[in-house]
Amino acid sequence: MKKVTIRVPATTANLGPGFDAFGCALGLYTDVTFEETDCGLEITGCPEEFTGPDNLVYESYCAVLNTMSEEVRGIKIHIDAHIPICRGLGSSAALLVAGAMGANVLRGNKLSTQGLLNITNAMEGHPDNLAPAFFGGLTASMVDNGLPVSVNFPLHPDWEFVALIPDFDLPTTLARSVLPEQISRADAIYNVSHGALVLKALELGDEKLLRTAMQDRLHQKYRKKLIPDYEKIEALVRTTGAGFCLSGAGPTLLCITRSPRLKEVLAKKLDSITEKNWQMLPLHVEFQGAHIVAMEE
Ligand code: HSE
Repeated sequence: MKKVTIRVPATTANLGPGFDAFGCALGLYTDVTFEETDCGLEITGCPEEFTGPDNLVYESYCAVLNTMSEEVRGIKIHIDAHIPICRGLGSSAALLVAGAMGANVLRGNKLSTQGLLNITNAMEGHPDNLAPAFFGGLTASMVDNGLPVSVNFPLHPDWEFVALIPDFDLPTTLARSVLPEQISRADAIYNVSHGALVLKALELGDEKLLRTAMQDRLHQKYRKKLIPDYEKIEALVRTTGAGFCLSGAGPTLLCITRSPRLKEVLAKKLDSITEKNWQMLPLHVEFQGAHIVAMEE
């Protein structure tokens, strides 16, 4: 029986104004191993409540087999997740990507990566985490006629991404429920223009442009009320000149800089200004998307 392990990177979505569109893969991973069996479903490596057929890995695994008109046979799935859950670092997208890729690899790679993105995007509802998880690097995506279209953008090599991860979670459903259904024309113009300049600032390595462009009026001002310490941390990060935004739907906060000063200031002052515990985690950009790390025929 075939066995394969798929590694998927963490992703940070939105990057400020690029709501549901921009994303970047980061050097933190979830590995998922698939082993075909004669019958049944066995899922290990996660809490008992996630070991049923509604597990995201298994759902996307089945969705890909159904699209290929392949029979769903027995499968053992082992999840080794290093991406923290419900923290805004793409943990759910990583599970969907792993399931889709696992099914495709075990059944002869009949679908393209774009085909797998189409299937998982229909499940997740937006491609901003999925695209960098599949393709690596910095991506911008649109959904046109129901199908995701994603492209990679260049990134200056000197950026350092620093994630500030709190000890509490924030379900994406809650973080989306506080967003308004409608926005003003002024706010739409603000986000379109800032989004375009975020991509250019990331390409050029222009930190001053980045911290100005990486502002948003579609989601962060509504979500920050759900995140204790948000405003204090934002004010502290801004004193260093780094770019600052919510990572995905939060609660992780993301800083992007070219200067060592950010980490020095955070190490010295973060604990004293916050009520919650925040872990400072420097992460490199991961340019390799989801891939096979082990395979047995
Ligand atoms: N773009 C999404 C959001 C990312 O901000 O809600 C989280 O899934």
